[in-house]
Amino acid sequence: MLSFQAILETIYKDALNAEDKGKVPTYIPELANIDINSFGIHLRTFDGKDYGIGDFNKKFSIQSISKVLALSKAISLVNGTVWKRIDVEPSGHPFNQLALLEIENGKPRNPLINSGAIIIADILISNLKNPKEDFLNYIRELTGDNDVNYNLTVANSEKNTGFKNYAAANLLKSFKNLDNSVDEVLDFYFHQCSIEMTCSQLTKAFYFLANKGVSLSNKNIISESQAKRINAIMLTCGFYDEAGEFAFEVGLPGKSGVGGGIVALLPNNYVITTWAPGLNLKGNSKLGMLALEQFTTKTKLSIF
Ligand code: DON
Repeated sequence: MLSFQAILETIYKDALNAEDKGKVPTYIPELANIDINSFGIHLRTFDGKDYGIGDFNKKFSIQSISKVLALSKAISLVNGTVWKRIDVEPSGHPFNQLALLEIENGKPRNPLINSGAIIIADILISNLKNPKEDFLNYIRELTGDNDVNYNLTVANSEKNTGFKNYAAANLLKSFKNLDNSVDEVLDFYFHQCSIEMTCSQLTKAFYFLANKGVSLSNKNIISESQAKRINAIMLTCGFYDEAGEFAFEVGLPGKSGVGGGIVALLPNNYVITTWAPGLNLKGNSKLGMLALEQFTTKTKLSIF
């Protein structure tokens, strides 16, 4: 019988001993202030149990992890439109790279790189009555917790320095793949990325993707087939030019963010979130990847 708590404790201690903890990002100035020694893991299993270690109840900036929740909301509203405007191929390039977007006539490779997520933000603005309020409520509902908020300082910090995102949105606009104004779309996108959640809140929010589209509170969020497709996109594109490495080492669909979080899941089995703010050169949490590799190795619970 596996003792998940004992496994998490071993992984936690081993990862903390790692000499290289990566580096906090500096391109969003507000994120550079986070304590690099923060580290938490939270596991939620399908038998209704949950296990945590370290800073699993501390809030952090979910950043690109939000792209999966935005995608699921967009798919629930207008499934067909999404795939006319965005492809489903791994990009093999960093999350903010622009060259492919120009070569491929303004159709982003997938919805998890920045240009694809900016189109998702555009779709949400066009289809929600009060976009920022409605999206926050969507995440609160998934989490079953109203204590989830935007961090306006982080959103503003990114707004002041998000030159590449402005470039991406302008490029999309020039290819007529953005309906709303660049400023409006990026304002939504920066807010979405600034949402703060704990590891334990994220394992609740992502439960529906492991549970055929049905949330922890038993609500149908998306269809089983839509959940399958989002998981496929997380597996192939969730870690940008490190998606192959994550599949190779960990073997789960997952999504990272430059705030240092990673959410990964095994359908019908569990959701796990790690948070360690030091990133590797590809922008993914160094200790988080290490911990998840250890978790699926020790438990033998991966999709492969
Ligand atoms: O748009 C950006 O660059 C950030 N708000 C999000 C990037 C991110 O989290 C990439 N993930 N590892």
